[in-house]
Amino acid sequence: MDIYALLKQDHEKVTELLDKLDETGDGAVKTREKLFAQLKQELTAHSEAEEKTFYDALKKAEETREIVLEGVEEHHVASALLTELDAMPKDDERWGAKLSVLKENVTHHIEEEEKELFKKARKVLDAAQAEEIGKRMEAEKRALLAQV
Ligand SMILES: [Fe+2]
Ligand SMILES: [Fe+2]
Repeated sequence: MDIYALLKQDHEKVTELLDKLDETGDGAVKTREKLFAQLKQELTAHSEAEEKTFYDALKKAEETREIVLEGVEEHHVASALLTELDAMPKDDERWGAKLSVLKENVTHHIEEEEKELFKKARKVLDAAQAEEIGKRMEAEKRALLAQV
């Protein structure tokens, strides 16, 4: 699988978990805990592996450097929100509000990656590179998920 197909697959998984979590109420503590644990693991591994492989290749190119730097900062915001959501009781009325903010952030980030960054990246990377970076992303993610 090339890097674009792989990232899209991850993005769909994260979006699905965010949608499901967004539908839960303050009383659904167990469901929130279960889905949130999945989301945190998936989103953290995705962002780290993405930075180490895809972003790393693109930050060297003039056309993609700026959007990659912005992407890293967006990962940082998402990671901070995940930490806060993790620490907060799942029946707190602020939990759902915070989750919605995370969802908005991540949705915007994914859109920017798939629309803007992918388009520019296709000019920077050839098909063989896209394939090779996909393989490395897969290995990187597997290693990160094995740590937890
Ligand atoms: Fe991504
Ligand atoms: Fe990202």
